[in-house]
Amino acid sequence: MSKNSTLILEVKNLAKKFGDYVAVDGISFDIKESEILGFLGPNGAGKSTTINCILGLIKPEVGTIRIFGKDLFKKRSEIMQEVNYCSAESNLPWSLTVNECLRAYSALYAVKNASTKIDELLERFEIAEFKNKRMRNLSFGQRARASLCKALLNDPKLLLLDEPMASMDPDVVDRGIKLLLKIQKETGMSVLYTSHNMWEIEQVASKVVFVNHGKVMAQGTALELTRQEVQLEAKEPDLREVFIQLSRKAPEMEEK
Ligand SMILES: Nc1ncnc2c1ncn2[C@@H]1O[C@H](COP(=O)(O)OP(=O)(O)OP(=O)(O)O)[C@@H](O)[C@H]1O
Ligand SMILES: [Mg+2]
Repeated sequence: MSKNSTLILEVKNLAKKFGDYVAVDGISFDIKESEILGFLGPNGAGKSTTINCILGLIKPEVGTIRIFGKDLFKKRSEIMQEVNYCSAESNLPWSLTVNECLRAYSALYAVKNASTKIDELLERFEIAEFKNKRMRNLSFGQRARASLCKALLNDPKLLLLDEPMASMDPDVVDRGIKLLLKIQKETGMSVLYTSHNMWEIEQVASKVVFVNHGKVMAQGTALELTRQEVQLEAKEPDLREVFIQLSRKAPEMEEK
């Protein structure tokens, strides 16, 4: 982990309701420069909702979000030039070819030498042969890799990954993780990484935040959480067991 302690993302006391339902209930955490944060929690815990708030796609009722030291709600378009996002539910336009998609996003992000950048990313993610195939004709895993290419087009300083490798086969995940770590080292970007594959998180994350029912239930390194939740004397992290233990624990419920 970098010794640099510059805060890239600061989420404070974030709360989001859908009607009467509280999806995010006072979440706070931060990500430092060059840090990869594993953002974990059971289905419905509030992870994607939090990510959508960080992207400014939905507005929280309460809380502040600062990215690169700036208030998201005041400087969103400026901030978003240096942020990117990728989710398992690929949302790239299905009728366009991979190349057309990536060119369109390059224009949005004003990427210099876009053709070179696109070719380089397609090569690195081993999908160059699909460059002229329409998105809708790709397999899930190929589409997910195209989404990762899109997410790296603008060399983001903050990358939000919501289950980015969920549809990839284990071999591709293994290579994808190694590549992502390499790119992170080259660029120093900060990453928020959500996954239900604990092996993936153990490979990438320097710190983990665990949420349930919209609240942060635990945070620390994978080994710290293992010692805290599973076995005091643990020598190796076991995030799978941490996940199971924390998921079965009720959060401190306040009267709502
Ligand atoms: N637009 C919406 N309207 C109503 N409820 C919503 C909406 N979006 C999310 N929710 C609810 O908010 C809760 C949190 O959803 P969210 O998608 O953030 O969970 P998650 O932690 O990402 O789960 P998963 O691991 O399944 O992706 C869920 O109970 C979900 O049903
Ligand atoms: Mg989700």
